[in-house]
Amino acid sequence: MQFNFLISKCMSVNENGMSILNGAQQRNPQLDEVITTMGEASAKAQNLKQVITSPLRFYQSDQKLYIKSEGKQCLGMLKVGRKNLFHRDLSGLVKEIQPLCVLDFYVHESVQRKGIGKELFEEMLRCEIICPEKLAYDRPSPKLLGFLKKHYHLQNYIPQNNNFVIFSQYFENRQQQILNNQLASPQSTQYQQSSTPLKVEQLGSLMSQMTIQSTQSKNQQQKESKTQAPWATDQKQQQNMYQTTTGLMSAQIQKKR
Ligand code: ACO
Repeated sequence: MQFNFLISKCMSVNENGMSILNGAQQRNPQLDEVITTMGEASAKAQNLKQVITSPLRFYQSDQKLYIKSEGKQCLGMLKVGRKNLFHRDLSGLVKEIQPLCVLDFYVHESVQRKGIGKELFEEMLRCEIICPEKLAYDRPSPKLLGFLKKHYHLQNYIPQNNNFVIFSQYFENRQQQILNNQLASPQSTQYQQSSTPLKVEQLGSLMSQMTIQSTQSKNQQQKESKTQAPWATDQKQQQNMYQTTTGLMSAQIQKKR
């Protein structure tokens, strides 16, 4: 997007052509023009009825705007901000979360698919000290979904009424923490208080841990049982996993009662 002034005249631009603005930014007419023009172009590109990035909406907010420019050209922008969201999982359990959200993301049509989006996104990840799976995405367009799948292998999520996308990996560390707590202290209060859906998640984690462990020990076991057919070892492992899992599930059903 071409302007008739150097972008660096209205905002500070680093050596990579990046600018980071926040709502407390000192306003000036040229900066307002950049935000207005880019906001309108983004809304048009996404077929939105309403512009979601404008000076009026941006100033006084706690949002941040990442801008990539080159001389008089503004190449793209990315807006993030924190939101309070309710997320429903497959069992119907609703969780309240406050993730940092990608609210608006636009690269000018003339330079799309040249890595500018990735540059902007990576700059934001560095500055916000966050990884892509810990972000929520407001009504992501097919292009953004393609972008996230290609660069970050993010694709699994449960559609929500609020249209925010939260990828399944968002919740993974939490499961791991609960699992670790359980292993360290099986009778801990946290374990006693956890809800049934969490227990199902824990079983999932246990299963995947067991699978990883069984893969790691596969070579070792193969060495030890050279005379044994390979499928005999696998069958035994699977039987053990099945028995352990069944045991855990019935123990949890007993607890619930
Ligand atoms: N069609 C399909 N996928 C696309 C397209 C497109 N036209 N453009 C980018 N992508 C995806 C693809 O995965 C692509 O990889 P590929 O070219 O190998 O297929 C990848 O993004 C390219 O990565 P970058 O070059 O780093 O991304 P780019 O600079 O194009 O920026 C962005 C990505 C911001 C999504 C840009 O395409 C854009 O502005 N699109 C129009 C506006 C939009 O849809 N914004 C997202 C709105 S949702 C929100 O803001 C929460």
